[in-house]
Amino acid sequence: MQKYSFVYDIKTKVYFGAEQMIHLGEEVANYGNKVLFLYDGDYIKKNGIYDLVIDASRKYNFEIVEFTSIKPNPRHTDVQAGVDLCKKEHCNVILAVGGGSTIDSAKVISSCALLDAPVWDVVIGKVPTQGSLPLLTISTISATGSEMNTGGVISNLDTKDKQSLRRPSQRPRVTFLNPEYTFTVPKYQTACGTVDILCHAIETYFSDDEPMMLTDTFLEGLIRTVVHYGPIAYKDPQNEEARANLMWSAPWAINDFLRYDKRKTWSMHPFEHELSAFFDITHGLGLAILMPRYLRHVIDEKSLPRFRNLGIYAFDLDRNLEDQEIAEKVIKKIENLCYETFGLESHLSNLGITEEHFEEIAEKLATDHGFYTAGYRKMSKDELIELFNECL
Ligand code: NZQ
Ligand code: ZN
Repeated sequence: MQKYSFVYDIKTKVYFGAEQMIHLGEEVANYGNKVLFLYDGDYIKKNGIYDLVIDASRKYNFEIVEFTSIKPNPRHTDVQAGVDLCKKEHCNVILAVGGGSTIDSAKVISSCALLDAPVWDVVIGKVPTQGSLPLLTISTISATGSEMNTGGVISNLDTKDKQSLRRPSQRPRVTFLNPEYTFTVPKYQTACGTVDILCHAIETYFSDDEPMMLTDTFLEGLIRTVVHYGPIAYKDPQNEEARANLMWSAPWAINDFLRYDKRKTWSMHPFEHELSAFFDITHGLGLAILMPRYLRHVIDEKSLPRFRNLGIYAFDLDRNLEDQEIAEKVIKKIENLCYETFGLESHLSNLGITEEHFEEIAEKLATDHGFYTAGYRKMSKDELIELFNECL
């Protein structure tokens, strides 16, 4: 395959900052006149977003149909209810206000509303999509980057599956990012969101594709930003500088720009999605437990130069140290961030998880993805089970 061949096509128009919210009404009205309005919690009634949407609908003459049934790790059954409502009410545009769970659900609704098929059949690729309704978002938490990318991740609790439906047509047309809306994000979610952004960047950084200095250095800067501002936002939730930096880092970590033509699939995310599917744990928490252990597994001759640059440019480590020492210190810093600064749980067993399903999960990863890891090197099934056991 030809090296360095890719298409840059990231169309989401972003309005950043409190004063940009005045554009909400005109932007929604550009795309339709009957809006499926998804939101996920009472906090949007306290921080003014709800009133803003209602006022905009009066001023710009669009009708609103509210849908509020989405929970974290969104279930396909709730998404199906959203599709049914969208069709019944003949909505022609979707506005999602919330975190990744709400925006992901809105994306899948935007595709399934144009089809006569059960949501899950579409998510698993049994039924092809035929475009999507236009989607606009107001992101309220810095984490998944769903506000600027093409994927919607949905869980099926019956089959214990968590799958992503990615379609270019699902990429939000317009996204509003107002850091002030994230002042109310609880500490636990701030921590999990920060770990998620960090992990998106690290998955891309530790990829075995052709190197690209521009995006590698961008990633180092992004990681530096996230590990600097995550703890500040955690301690001081209303720190605007920290919230703004996290809010702008989140979509760039995963909006496809940094992946340019990288073809290797991620590793920690498929592993974590299986853990969430089986045990319904918070995505960022699962990553916090997996990431340091996974990184220890991929230290080798090939990855050491990457650890070296990451240590020096993102974690301020001394360039005179040996590569191996830098790699260990990078991992230690990630552990300290997750477990000490953020106080996140560091062991799956403390979440009531046992080794019972690890064999099944490892088998499923092979079946669903045809690989055990595609980052720096492949992992055997035994090594993957060993990794899960280390997380206990
Ligand atoms: O329960 P409520 O009150 O609604 O509180 C929400 C929610 O419980 C709260 N929250 C969000 N903004 C808030 C706020 N509380 C107060 N003030 C605010 N401003 O945060 C809680 C978690 O929300 P959720 O949407 O579940 O979190 P997140 O954004 O981390 O999304 C996680 C989901 O996204 C998927 C994950 O797997 C998981 O299902 N992912 C989606 C990706 C994508 N689309 O590209 C990639 C990711 O890697 C990830 O897999
Ligand atoms: Zn993630």
